[in-house]
Amino acid sequence: MNVFQFQAMKNEGRIITATTAYDYWSAKILNDSEIDMIIVGDSVAMVVHGHPNTLAATTAMMEMHIAAVARGATDKFIVGDMPFLSFRKGLSETMHCVERLMRAGAHAVKLEGIDGLEDIVKHTVDSGVPVMGHLGLTPQSVHALGGMKVQARDEDASALLADRAKRVEDAGAFSVVLECVSATAARRVTEEVSIPTIGIGAGKHTDGQVLVLHDILGFNTDFKPKFVRNFAGGEEFVLDAVNRFAQEARAGTFPAKAETYS
Ligand code: KIV
Repeated sequence: MNVFQFQAMKNEGRIITATTAYDYWSAKILNDSEIDMIIVGDSVAMVVHGHPNTLAATTAMMEMHIAAVARGATDKFIVGDMPFLSFRKGLSETMHCVERLMRAGAHAVKLEGIDGLEDIVKHTVDSGVPVMGHLGLTPQSVHALGGMKVQARDEDASALLADRAKRVEDAGAFSVVLECVSATAARRVTEEVSIPTIGIGAGKHTDGQVLVLHDILGFNTDFKPKFVRNFAGGEEFVLDAVNRFAQEARAGTFPAKAETYS
């Protein structure tokens, strides 16, 4: 896949599918899947490193996880997340981060927000790096938003979201993630911008859908917002396999003769 194919999918009404990956082994499995795009999200700080929010993600953290994913998902389009404040300290620092993520194996970078960022997005795009926008609930602004709250629930907020999405498009982004916004607002944005919208908790009237891999797999049962659907019982699967190993080892039935070197 490439940026033109994502645009073609929107134009033809074909749903774009995306998920996250943070490591080599899951990326290798996703490489054989039907998914159109992998996002190495800064959610890695929460999902893999156990932080309470995404503010703990750093350029070094993102770079390492992108490199691991790129080694596993050799045939997929990989988007790398620009971490907290990495694109708010001037052009030079931004481009330093972009360079590290792209050299690690990303095919595009994603950054949250647009206010005060138009020139940064334009410069990144003009430098030959595709940019994905991210609007609505932007987790890096969790404290300014007063928590992880659904966004754009009324007419004024929807209009503002649509305006921001148009500015993301005008700055040259190839797509935009809409996170945790009302379905009405997401539909409006999807109709008003030409670039693909990828929704997470944004209803079904977006050009694509993304879910965090660990949520798809059912590995995050402590935290289940309304928009998440577990497509597998990952937690039970792991517990069952690990418990069976422990039980068989204790019972002396593992390893068997066939699993032992003579
Ligand atoms: O960090 C993340 O997981 C994201 C998702 C919206 C893909 O940004």
